[in-house]
Amino acid sequence: MSGRANESEMMSDQRRYRPPEQIRWAEAGDAIIVLDQTELPARRVEKELRTVEAVEEAIQSLRVRGAPLIGITAAMGIAALARRAVLEAEAAGGTLSIDDLAERLRAWCDRLEQARPTAVNLVWAIDRMRRAAALTAAGSTGGTIASAAALAEGLRAEAGDILEEDRMMCRRIGEHAAALLRDGSSVITHCNAGALATGGIGTALAPVYVATEQGKKISVYADETRPLLQGSRITAWELAEAGVEVTVIADNMAGALFATDPPDIAFVGSDRIAANGDVANKIGTYGLAVLAHHHGVPFYVLAPTSTVDLHTASGDQIPIEQRSADEIRQGFGRLTAPAQAPVWSPAFDVTPNELVTGIVTEQGVHRAPYVESLREAVAAAERDRAERGRS
Ligand code: MRU
Repeated sequence: MSGRANESEMMSDQRRYRPPEQIRWAEAGDAIIVLDQTELPARRVEKELRTVEAVEEAIQSLRVRGAPLIGITAAMGIAALARRAVLEAEAAGGTLSIDDLAERLRAWCDRLEQARPTAVNLVWAIDRMRRAAALTAAGSTGGTIASAAALAEGLRAEAGDILEEDRMMCRRIGEHAAALLRDGSSVITHCNAGALATGGIGTALAPVYVATEQGKKISVYADETRPLLQGSRITAWELAEAGVEVTVIADNMAGALFATDPPDIAFVGSDRIAANGDVANKIGTYGLAVLAHHHGVPFYVLAPTSTVDLHTASGDQIPIEQRSADEIRQGFGRLTAPAQAPVWSPAFDVTPNELVTGIVTEQGVHRAPYVESLREAVAAAERDRAERGRS
């Protein structure tokens, strides 16, 4: 390899964005360690999750959040719980039958599946864990602790694959959508669909990182994202950490921004995309889409195919999570509404497909009619997965 090639490789390696570690296995593989996002931006704190209650609590209280990361956390959490059960049985000098582990597994899956209703990636990842368990159990013999250990190993491998695939999907989303950005582009985004919502470099923010690696100068407007402030607390934090120029706006400033100095493009993530291209995402996304449409700003949704739900025909069938009233009345510990004020607090809204300029998955940029383009994207993703399984 020539010195010049070496130099450019070193340069691109230096420029390559490395996200903060969102999640990892504890040393013995019997717990998971997550970056506690409720502490951001003030403190970078990790939390070890050792029980199904702890995994559920971390998902429900948004210590881990973002559709892909929720799925990854559930999958890795289940695998760690299985390993813990095997190790505990070993330590007690007893045996854990494969049937016993399979029964616990069913209970963990049933419980975690309910933790948050809108992000389809959660059900998608848990389904994969159920199928992996069935396959491993079918191939196992005996019903002794060795079989339970084999089942736990199979679960760990599947959870590891889910994490690795998510990393790969994020990068590919970033590469496809970076082509929509030029040097000097300004992007507006909502909530956090960055690295901290995934196992990789994010979805909506992935093209920002890839374009920056390519030497383009990109600036981002981060909607603050009431009521839990994922935009100002998390998006602004991770972009600043990565050295990307970011300006925070309160949600009610977006209209004035579009009227005076509109961003070039809007990039948002999604918790579930219906078969017809209607998009559920953090509450406030619909308002942003209406503004973008009114001002002629392209509005793109970026998500892996694991977020596409072909079983849900349209957005009105997507279950929308309702959050606690106190997140509005006294979010972050200070009374900001009368303590008993009635509150309506949906965590997500649905943007109709006609407001969506394009949907970017790891398979490329998909355009209307989405019924066809999304069906093809999901089929292509399934073919890719089968191909990887064979190699
Ligand atoms: O309630 P949250 O913080 O989990 O909501 C997250 C979002 O709405 C994200 O935009 C979505 O999950 C996509 S993440 C790649």
